[in-house]
Amino acid sequence: MSQPASEMSDGVPLIFELGQKGRANRYFEDAKPLETYLPPSVLREELPLPENSELDVVRHYTRLSQRTFGIDVGFYPLGSCTMKYNPRVNDAIAARREFAELHPYTPDELAQGALQVMYELERSLSSLFGMAAFSLNPSAGAHAELAALLIAKKYFKDRGETHRDKVIVPDTAHGTNPASAAMCGFHVISLPSDSRGRVSVEEIRKVLGPDTAVCMMTNPNTLGLFEEQIAQIAAEVHAAGGLMYYDGANANAIMGYTRPGDMGFDLMHLNTHKTFTIPHGGGGAGHGPLGVAAYLVDYLPTPVVVARDGEFALEFDRPKSIGPMRSFWSNFAHAVRALAYLYANGEAGLKRVSQLAVLNANYLRVKVAEFLETPYPETCRHEFVASAQRLKKEHGVRALDLAKALLDRGYMAPTIYFPLIVPESLMIEPTETESKETLDDFAAALHGIVETAKTNPQELFDAPTATVVGRVDETRAARQPDLRWRA
Ligand SMILES: Cc1ncc(COP(=O)(O)O)c(C=O)c1O
Repeated sequence: MSQPASEMSDGVPLIFELGQKGRANRYFEDAKPLETYLPPSVLREELPLPENSELDVVRHYTRLSQRTFGIDVGFYPLGSCTMKYNPRVNDAIAARREFAELHPYTPDELAQGALQVMYELERSLSSLFGMAAFSLNPSAGAHAELAALLIAKKYFKDRGETHRDKVIVPDTAHGTNPASAAMCGFHVISLPSDSRGRVSVEEIRKVLGPDTAVCMMTNPNTLGLFEEQIAQIAAEVHAAGGLMYYDGANANAIMGYTRPGDMGFDLMHLNTHKTFTIPHGGGGAGHGPLGVAAYLVDYLPTPVVVARDGEFALEFDRPKSIGPMRSFWSNFAHAVRALAYLYANGEAGLKRVSQLAVLNANYLRVKVAEFLETPYPETCRHEFVASAQRLKKEHGVRALDLAKALLDRGYMAPTIYFPLIVPESLMIEPTETESKETLDDFAAALHGIVETAKTNPQELFDAPTATVVGRVDETRAARQPDLRWRA
C-alpha cells in the first residue's frame, strides 16, 4: 500500500528533537559570557537553537548522509543528468580561502585572481563550443534558457520584429524548453520526430514562417541521437529570420568533436553542473553559462567580465543587456570547479571524456538490448532509451517497477517516462567515469529484474523494500509534500 509522504516516519529524530538544555559542548569552561565582550544592543534575547553535544551532531548528520543515495555511493545512470564522478581536487580548489572567502562586493582591483578565473572560463567555453562569448550569470540550464529567450525577444524588438512570437521545440525536448518559452510569452510549436527519432528538414519547413522567433534543439537529442540534418535545419530557420538555440545539457557527448557554433546555433546553454564535474541534484546550486554568437553579445546578462590593459573588471554598464539574471557573481565556486576541470583535462582530455561517454553508452545499450526493447536501435551518443512496453503488456510490469527494483539492488534508477515519445521509457546514461565491471553488474541486475517480472511480478510491485522509504504515492508526494517540522 502506498504511504502518503507526510506519514512516512523513518525513525530519525530531528536535530531539534535530539537537543537537551545544557548538552552543548563547552570546551572552554572558564570562558567569559558573551555579555562581557558585546554591548546589549547587539545581543539576542533568544536564540532558539538546539543544544547538542558534538558527538550527537556528528552521529546525526553521518546517519542522515548514509540514508541517501548519491554518486559517491553507487552507479547513477540518470539519463540526461550526466551524473558522473566529480574529482575531489576541484572541490579543494574551490574551497581555497582566496576563492571561498571573497566577498562579492570586493573591488575589482582586489579580486583580480577571481575575475581571471571567470574570464578564462568564459574564453575557454567560447572556444570549445564555437560561440563569440558566454555569460556565467545564469544559475542553471533552465535559467539560461529563459535568459536566451529574453535576449531573442529584445533582439527582435530592436529590429522591429515583435510579430515573431513562435518558438519551435521538438517532441524529444526536455520540459524546460517549452516551459521557458511559455514563461517568456512565446507560443510553443511542438515538432514531431521522424521514425528514426530525429527532426527532419521537411517537418521544420512545415512550421517555419514570418512569425518564427526561435528553434530550440538538443543535439544529441534526448534519445541520445545526433541530429544529422542540423546544418540544413539551421539554414532553414535562419532563412526564415529565426534564431537557433542549442540546449547543451548533452554536451558531454560532443566535446572536441563538434561545436554548436559550427552547427549554426546562435545561442546556447551549458549545464556546467553536468558536463564539467560539478555536482548537482535535489534542485541544488547549479551553473548555466549562456553562449551567444557575435551579433548577440551586447544582449548578454550583466555583469560581464572583461580584460582591459592587462586588468580584469566586471562590466555593468551595457545598454542593450537584458540585465542581471541573478545577484552578484552567480555561483562563482562552480565557475572555479569548472575551470579546474577544463584545465586538468585539456583539449585532448575533454575529447576523451566524450569518447568514453559514448563508448560506455553503446556498450550498455547493446547489453540491455538483449532483454529489453530499444526502440531506436542504432549507435547512440552518450545515452540511450530502452522501453518496458512489452513487459507491461505481457506481465503488467512498468518502467516504474523496474526503476524501483533497481533501488533495492543498490543502483540509482535511470530517468523514466522521458522522453515522452517512448512509452514506458528508461533513459540510461552511464557517463565516462564508470568501469566496464560496473556496467556489466548493472546490466546483470537489470536483466535479473526483467526475468523476475516474468516469474514473480508481485516482487517488483512491492519494490523497493530495502530502502529507507518504500513505495510512495508519487502523485501525493509531488502535489502535497509535507515538508514542515511540527513540534
Ligand atoms: C536536456 C535538458 N535540457 C535542459 C535541462 C535543464 O537544466 P537544469 O536542470 O540545469 O535547469 C535539463 C536538465 O536535466 C536537461 O536534461
